[in-house]
Amino acid sequence: MSLIKWTPEEFGTSVTQHDEEHKHLFGLLNGLHASVGSGERGSIGRSLDGLIAFVAQHFGAEEENMRKAAYPALDLHRLEHEKLVKTCVNLQQQFHAGATEITEETTAFLRDWLKEHIPHVDRKYGPTLSSMQP
Ligand SMILES: [Fe+2]
Ligand SMILES: [Fe+2]
Repeated sequence: MSLIKWTPEEFGTSVTQHDEEHKHLFGLLNGLHASVGSGERGSIGRSLDGLIAFVAQHFGAEEENMRKAAYPALDLHRLEHEKLVKTCVNLQQQFHAGATEITEETTAFLRDWLKEHIPHVDRKYGPTLSSMQP
């Protein structure tokens, strides 16, 4: 069973690029969740690294588009991104140092963060950014 599923009703932002990135992100999180289920540390590490790298790339893409569109809430939005990246990088370092494990609590935390952030924070850039789409 997937941990999280993208639907336009719950997660659509009306910015195609970011909707596609969110779908990809969900796939990576579901992959991490499956790795956790397998209990195989090497697979968990690879899934975690891939997910965190894509999160950083996606946040960068949103911030770049918000900057180009002179989106007024960019600073607040960026702050939310920075907090999550910090948490993820700490987790990643701790995991690779053998000091912590990635569990279903970790993947549930990430799922809940996305379920809060995309509909309530990302969606707000929809009107501004969708008018800039080609
Ligand atoms: Fe996003
Ligand atoms: Fe965002």
